[in-house]
Amino acid sequence: MSDNFDVKLDTKSYLPDPSVKEDSWMGDYEKAYDESVKDPEAHWEKVAEELEWFEKWDRVREWEHPYAKWFVNAKMNITCNCLDRHVFNGRKNKVALIWVGDDGEEQVITYRQLYREVMRFANGLKSLGVGRGDRVCIYMPLVPEQIIAMLACARIGAVHSVVFGGFGSNALRSRIKDAQAKIVVTADASLRRGKRLDLKSIVDEAVVGSSSVEKIVVLRRMKPQMELFSEIEVDFYEIMEGVEKECEPEVMDAEDPLFILYTSGTTGPAKGIVHACGGYMVGTYYTTKNMFDLKEGDVMWCTADPGWITGHSYIVYGPLAMGATILISETTPDYPDPGVWWDMIEEFDVTVFYTAPTAIRMFMKLGEEWPNKYNLGSLRVLGSVGEPLNPEAFEWYYRVIGKEKCPILDTWWQTETGMHMLTTAVGEPMKPGFAGRPVPGIVADVVDENGEPVPPGTGGFLVIKEPWPSMMRTVYNNDERYRQYWNSINNYYAAGDLAVKDEDGYIMILGRSDDVLIVAGHNIGSAEVESALVSHEVVAEAAVIGKPDPLKGDSIKAFIILRMGYEPAEKLKLDLLYHVRMNLGPIAMPSEIEFVDSLPKTRSGKIMRRVLKAQELGMDPGDVSTLEE
Ligand code: PRX
Repeated sequence: MSDNFDVKLDTKSYLPDPSVKEDSWMGDYEKAYDESVKDPEAHWEKVAEELEWFEKWDRVREWEHPYAKWFVNAKMNITCNCLDRHVFNGRKNKVALIWVGDDGEEQVITYRQLYREVMRFANGLKSLGVGRGDRVCIYMPLVPEQIIAMLACARIGAVHSVVFGGFGSNALRSRIKDAQAKIVVTADASLRRGKRLDLKSIVDEAVVGSSSVEKIVVLRRMKPQMELFSEIEVDFYEIMEGVEKECEPEVMDAEDPLFILYTSGTTGPAKGIVHACGGYMVGTYYTTKNMFDLKEGDVMWCTADPGWITGHSYIVYGPLAMGATILISETTPDYPDPGVWWDMIEEFDVTVFYTAPTAIRMFMKLGEEWPNKYNLGSLRVLGSVGEPLNPEAFEWYYRVIGKEKCPILDTWWQTETGMHMLTTAVGEPMKPGFAGRPVPGIVADVVDENGEPVPPGTGGFLVIKEPWPSMMRTVYNNDERYRQYWNSINNYYAAGDLAVKDEDGYIMILGRSDDVLIVAGHNIGSAEVESALVSHEVVAEAAVIGKPDPLKGDSIKAFIILRMGYEPAEKLKLDLLYHVRMNLGPIAMPSEIEFVDSLPKTRSGKIMRRVLKAQELGMDPGDVSTLEE
């Protein structure tokens, strides 16, 4: 995309009741924003002062493009802010986690209990030889133990790499290998819609030939308990037996890595995004408090899995740093029936609800009679993340779920940004279709390819102009890839999204400017799906594009050139789908496969997915001067 283009903008807006703003932590957004950018260091320092540190910083920020350090030389441990701070300051018996399983099983865990379990598991990990800086891969279903494992790593300074439990064995293998994980923490199975999905066997496949993995820790949740066979397999709870109850927090430098989280890119394998302890803590704490406006009595439910950045930031670290009560659930939105989520909101008096547009659109299709059966009066703030919340979905969410009283935050951000970057602060006018304005402390803009701001109504590239505390620090094993983010558009952070601004500075996200697909709110690299397809013996070449889908945002279409000697057949399509499912997981499965004889390419042999997409959608392919024929 190089030409600027005009976008027709709707001007509809909704204003929440004035009391929302009056009672909010932020108060007046514009005042907070102006102050924050006048002196960003003072802004972030004030936030950091609310948290506990072993030693304070010498300087708030050090910026040597494209490398930032935040809270320089400060010493801390994020778990002290997520656990100890509450246990020793009046929240000891407050509920930290409420978990609901796929089969309706419930667990309620207080801050004291979570603190105890984390320390014991941390000591268990130590007994396996895990220490500061070691990488631990966590590949688990959405159960409390997944969060306990994450926090236990943080407690002892190990770097966690959580891999979403829906990924297949190849995706898991490449992530274990890239991070050189010493330990894999997993479970026997996850449950989905009453069906048992075996996770352990996927791990077994993924670790074949691994030179780094020393132990596999298995949570055995199913009855009868599965047997552990080899010496490298140990039971999740057994490693917690006989260890010390207390585990002193490892003293971490603010710039030490806290975790790696893999996200799909345009080319090649997934990128290991690295976040640092101090800045990430400050950024997620600030946005949980000020954007979700989280208060002491709130019950927050973020429907993501901790295996995604949304779960890291707004299930685990942000809300726990706030001392909040968090609901987590393994349930799917329509099982056993499409009322299950609304039932949980009523049952647990959920006040802050954070979900994805794809779920909202699914509920719209199922009909408002489902939510209308339940009392949703506890809801106070609604959020959305992962892809644009289209105006129709906004209106439905606002009217049917929020009963026209809840502010809706369409939050734009990324694995790389660690925290919300754009949204509409509670109490400010909301514009359906727009993510909103930058979070205080964030300098965002829509620019052309030279970095010049484009006028309102003209599309361009979304950039962040200044560093922020929870920005990624590098791409694991690939710092060059990290530098590219800051070197492609006038030394700004280039998000890879297209956007447009209106006269009031509200930003609407138009989609990716590269070949990353957003399927049901999940980032999928076209290159990753293509390489999974090409690894099948019948495939000579593959190209993958995203097609607009009313429910999922993008749906995946694959174009396949077969090897000599193979003929197109329906059965082959099924084989290929199965192959992708086993390699990458169900989320990366194409919805459509077409066998073709050739693919549009540049003279240098790069597939022009843009041209394929234009053909598919009957649109103008734009500049095709580099097309070979
Ligand atoms: O294209 C944007 C889209 O998701 C991408 C980031 O994906 P990921 O790193 O997986 O993080 C998702 C959860 C934070 C972005 O580059 N995206 C995310 N939120 C929105 C969005 N697009 C439009 N509106 C949003 N609110």
